[in-house]
Amino acid sequence: MAEQTWAIRGTTKVVAVIGDPVDHSLSPQMHNAAFAALGLDYVYVALNPSSRHLGETVRAMRYLGLAGLNVTVPYKQDAMRHVDKLTAAAKAIGAVNTIYADGRKLIGNNTDAPGFIAALNASGFRPRGKRALVIGAGGAARAVIHALVEAKVSDVVIANRTHRKAMRLAKDFGGARNNLTAVDLDILDDFDFLDSRQLVVNTTSVGLKGGDFVDYSVEATPEDCVHFDLAYGESPTAFLELAMKAKRPTIDGRHMLVHQGALAFKLFTGRRPPVEVMAAAVGL
Ligand code: ATR
Repeated sequence: MAEQTWAIRGTTKVVAVIGDPVDHSLSPQMHNAAFAALGLDYVYVALNPSSRHLGETVRAMRYLGLAGLNVTVPYKQDAMRHVDKLTAAAKAIGAVNTIYADGRKLIGNNTDAPGFIAALNASGFRPRGKRALVIGAGGAARAVIHALVEAKVSDVVIANRTHRKAMRLAKDFGGARNNLTAVDLDILDDFDFLDSRQLVVNTTSVGLKGGDFVDYSVEATPEDCVHFDLAYGESPTAFLELAMKAKRPTIDGRHMLVHQGALAFKLFTGRRPPVEVMAAAVGL
């Protein structure tokens, strides 16, 4: 990154990620590597506004002439209120992860859903017509369910500790019309059901910081059943560790990070993102 530091000039455009906490974000190293690779006069920084100042921070994008913002936890929902226009994806998911300017207007977009599909495609998995299981029903699950429905999977079963939340999510994204079903976590022990799955996505943070994942009979899934964890850490998550032990194909959250970031990069710079460079910058 040394060449980035000395290359900052009066003309340098600024992009930032806002979140709380934000200091562990891999986005600065990923985007700065991409700017450097293409020789673009941009710099990407991490900012940590308090929730009280979220509106002012988003509006400051216009006042300060920032080239774009990424929004991460816990501001993805609240940021929606502070932009001028939402894309269809941001509206459907109920969250914004990328803000860019279109003339004077701030546009709130969501690249998490297409980023998730791009990560699947890059691994060779084509979601169309496939049978999926999504574990969890929080904010992260919303982007995944939206993406899977758009990609025309055959069906999605949503398993969550709190049944009511899984029901709500299924309903929000079309319910039976889109073959969405809400179930309890004990489905993760149902061998006949698991045998029918081709994709299992963990959207929960269970087992991320050590500790076990919930009871899950991974060996009941088909041998080629893809296991995707939205989270990532220094070492594999407890969910991916189970999948790897059972020799199932796995995808970790850094792949989605790279692809959602690549789509945002295109919006910020208008340039084709150097995806390989971005992947290498996050250790892939
Ligand atoms: P995010 O926005 O990152 O998805 P979230 O909205 O807090 O975060 O959602 C976290 C998800 O992890 C939820 O599905 C939650 O289940 P509940 O809806 O029952 O709360 C799930 N989760 C968190 N801790 C869990 C645990 N110990 N066991 C099972 N599920 C858990």
